[in-house]
Amino acid sequence: MNSTHHHADGTTPTTTVEYWEAFYAEREQVWSGRPNALLVREIAGVAPGSALDLGCAEGADAIWLAQRGWQVTAADVSETALARARAEAQRLGLSEQIGWQRHDLAESFPSGLFDLVTAQYLHSPPAQDGERTRILRRAAEAVAPGGLLLIVGHAEWPSWVVEPPLHVHFPTTAEVRAGLALDPAEWQVEVDEVVDLEHAGPEGQPGTKKDNILRIRRR
Ligand SMILES: C[S@@+](CC[C@H](N)C(=O)[O-])C[C@H]1O[C@@H](n2cnc3c(N)ncnc32)[C@H](O)[C@@H]1O
Repeated sequence: MNSTHHHADGTTPTTTVEYWEAFYAEREQVWSGRPNALLVREIAGVAPGSALDLGCAEGADAIWLAQRGWQVTAADVSETALARARAEAQRLGLSEQIGWQRHDLAESFPSGLFDLVTAQYLHSPPAQDGERTRILRRAAEAVAPGGLLLIVGHAEWPSWVVEPPLHVHFPTTAEVRAGLALDPAEWQVEVDEVVDLEHAGPEGQPGTKKDNILRIRRR
């Protein structure tokens, strides 16, 4: 359910919240409503517990987790996206299982420890240098002992994106791991992989994309 980031009017909003509010305001529904394939691949076999979804967007991953018995806290900077997510969860009778929280994760962060902390494509064109690294470090701190940190990101733009709209650096898994600087005595990397996926463009044009995936367990 990834997409490139377009601006309707060509302007460049400056702050994280302005950028993402403009992104969601452009369309009534931005994402497909389906959970991310790599979340499903990694977590379908994991016994449910508490989960934190960072950059939850319109809520498809959080809803999928809740449907599988997870108690979910889901955070995003966009109130527009959260309102859509909340409405969909309500429609599905999942309001009790998901707490939706608005945060600019560079500034505030959901409290608590979680059996799963997931960050799916937490890329943000307006983010300052090092911001994503700080957010992911904070994400690691939120993992309960025995729990999982799952970080999925683009390795590159999908094949059908000829001119990437804005500069975004997509870190390699090695870069993400270096940024996290996790103590191997406390953390075990279970999956460190680059995955090629079929990925159709917005007009249905066939294509591929490459994603990075890290699944790290806190001992
Ligand atoms: C590329 S989208 C990915 C959305 C979703 N996780 C998915 O996989 O489809 C990034 C999402 O993260 C949110 N986001 C980006 N930076 C953020 C920040 N600093 N704090 C909270 N949310 C942020 C955006 O609003 C957006 O919904």
